[in-house]
Amino acid sequence: MAIKLPFIKSKQAKQSPEISTENTPKHIAIIMDGNGRWAKNRGLVRVAGHKEGLSSLMKIVKAAVKYEVEILTLYAFSTENWKRPKSEVEFILRLPKEFLEIYLPDLIANNVRINVIGDMEKLPEYTREAVQYAIDRTQNNDGLQVNFALNYGGRHEIIQAMKEMYTDLLDTKLTIDKIDEQRFSNYLYTAQMPEPDLLIRTGGEKRLSNFLLWQLAYTEFWFTDVLWPDFQEADFSLAIDHFQQRNRRYGGLSN
Ligand code: FPP
Repeated sequence: MAIKLPFIKSKQAKQSPEISTENTPKHIAIIMDGNGRWAKNRGLVRVAGHKEGLSSLMKIVKAAVKYEVEILTLYAFSTENWKRPKSEVEFILRLPKEFLEIYLPDLIANNVRINVIGDMEKLPEYTREAVQYAIDRTQNNDGLQVNFALNYGGRHEIIQAMKEMYTDLLDTKLTIDKIDEQRFSNYLYTAQMPEPDLLIRTGGEKRLSNFLLWQLAYTEFWFTDVLWPDFQEADFSLAIDHFQQRNRRYGGLSN
C-alpha cells in the first residue's frame, strides 16, 4: 500500500513523496542519542536537548503509525543513566510526565498503546504515575505499541528473567528439560513480542549500550550521525528504506 506524504525538508535525508509499507519492520527499537551534543552545539544546557528530543519522539511515533509499524521500543533511561548528575537524572525522569501531558490525546487519537519495559519500582512516583495513567488510558488501543524503556538494562533484564525462572524451577512450575530459547524469552520484559527487526541509533555512536541484548540477536542495525533532536520523519524513512532492501538470512542461506 502506498501512502502519500508531504515533502519534508531535512539536511540529512531526502524524503520520497511515497512510502511503501511492504516489508516494513514490525518492531523497531531506537536508541535516542545525541541530545546533550545537540544542546552544546547551540550553547545551551544539556537538558535543553532532552526537552527538544520530545518533539522528535512524537514525530517518529506518528511516522511509525503511517508505516504500520506494530511496536516501537524507545530507550529513554538506562540502568546506567543514574550515574549522571542528579539534576539531569531528575530532568530526564520528569520527561515522560511532560511528554504525556502534551501528547497523550494525540497518542490516543492515533490508536497508540503505551507500555513500559524496565524496572519501574525504582523510578520516582511522578514518573510511575504518569506512565501508569497512560498505560491504563491506552490499554484497549490496538494500533502501534510504544514501549518506553525506563530504568532498563539488558543485563539486568536477563538476570531478572533468570531469577524468575529459577523460582519457577524451585516451585516445580518448570522443569530443566522444558527450558529453551522461547521459554526463556517469556521471562523477559518483551515476552510475547516479536523481536526487533530494526535497531536505529542516532548520534553517531556504534554500540548497544546494554539495550535489548537478548532480543537484538538477529536485528538489522542502522546507525546515523543525526542527533536525536534533529531526527526527522525523513531520516526514519531512510532507515526503513534501507531495511526493506536487506536480505535477512538468520544464519541460513538466501533463497
Ligand atoms: C541520550 O542522549 C538521551 C537520553 C539519555 C535521554 C533520552 C530521553 C528522551 C528523548 C525523552 C524520553 C521521554 C519519554 C516520554 C520516555 P545523551 O544525553 O547521551 O546525548 P550526548 O551523547 O550528546 O551527550
